[in-house]
Amino acid sequence: MALLELSGVTKRFGGLTAVDNVTFNVEAGEIFGLIGPNGAGKSTLLNCLAGLTRPTAGTVKLDGHDTTGLPAEQMCRLGVSRTFQIPRPFPRLTAFENVTVAATFGGNRVHRESIAQRSLEMLEYVEFPRAVGTMAGTLNAVQLKRLDLARALASKPKLLFLDEFAAGLTATELVDIAKLLRRIRDDGVTIVMVEHVMRLIMDLCDNLSVLQYGQLIAHGKAATVAQDPRVLEAYLGHNYILSATTAERRSRCCNSRVSLQAMTCFRSFGAWTSTSKRASLSPSSAQMARAKPQPCARSLGTSRPSTAR
Ligand SMILES: Nc1ncnc2c1ncn2[C@@H]1O[C@H](COP(=O)(O)OP(=O)(O)OP(=O)(O)O)[C@@H](O)[C@H]1O
Ligand SMILES: [Mg+2]
Repeated sequence: MALLELSGVTKRFGGLTAVDNVTFNVEAGEIFGLIGPNGAGKSTLLNCLAGLTRPTAGTVKLDGHDTTGLPAEQMCRLGVSRTFQIPRPFPRLTAFENVTVAATFGGNRVHRESIAQRSLEMLEYVEFPRAVGTMAGTLNAVQLKRLDLARALASKPKLLFLDEFAAGLTATELVDIAKLLRRIRDDGVTIVMVEHVMRLIMDLCDNLSVLQYGQLIAHGKAATVAQDPRVLEAYLGHNYILSATTAERRSRCCNSRVSLQAMTCFRSFGAWTSTSKRASLSPSSAQMARAKPQPCARSLGTSRPSTAR
């Protein structure tokens, strides 16, 4: 039985169908990628799955139990947590206090005396800078992402949704994030990640779903989906021709006024549709030598019953 099962999930906003009859499963223990062009409905789908908004139609099952339309706080208690495309901390609380809120009211409630300990452990786990007493409102974008992740993990989830977690990170930060996400998965948390950074998706994800205009246009093993002409066209437009040379494709992209995002994706596709050129995020020996030592490899302590309720 899959950990997460979507069947015909649909979300309409008035006349706009943001998510249109989407069906797929996510297995326990995998890192699952959800991709698609801007406005494809990825965040809306995550909102439907995490209880932020109720689907207009369709069903969502967690561990075989119907969780369709349950509110976020109930989903959190069932072991579902998420980060946001734009992090939403309590700006007038410190980073530490922000995490204690999640540890206090999140899923597996911990004893009061261990809330502080759990919060510090989670900040350390995500390698948050040592200034945990800093007001969240003064943190930069990268720090906010890590704080958001610490908050999401503080509730001891078994299923974690990440919405564009890697947006804006440098190449070096991407290497660190890839290692961190693998560690989270290895510690027992299933991850569903919405992401535009294709190198990260291709490096981490076992399976991929691709949305376009709310509809699922491809689903399956990441390497297979990456070669799907519908996926390439969704990102790059009709002018993209598989047989063209790299220079020709780049020229077509420029001439057809595709967006900056498409150009970025084009470069990523160029890297990962050609296995000989595929750029791996695994650190090279030179990067390993430069890398700062890991502060500590804490366990997430996510052991919980396999049934959701
Ligand atoms: N609350 C809302 N009310 C009305 N329309 C909405 C609402 N939320 C999202 N939409 C619309 O639904 C569509 C899908 O939006 P969504 O944010 O889910 O896309 P996305 O795939 O996450 O895009 P991006 O990659 O830019 O984050 C868009 O057309 C958007 O304008
Ligand atoms: Mg989005």
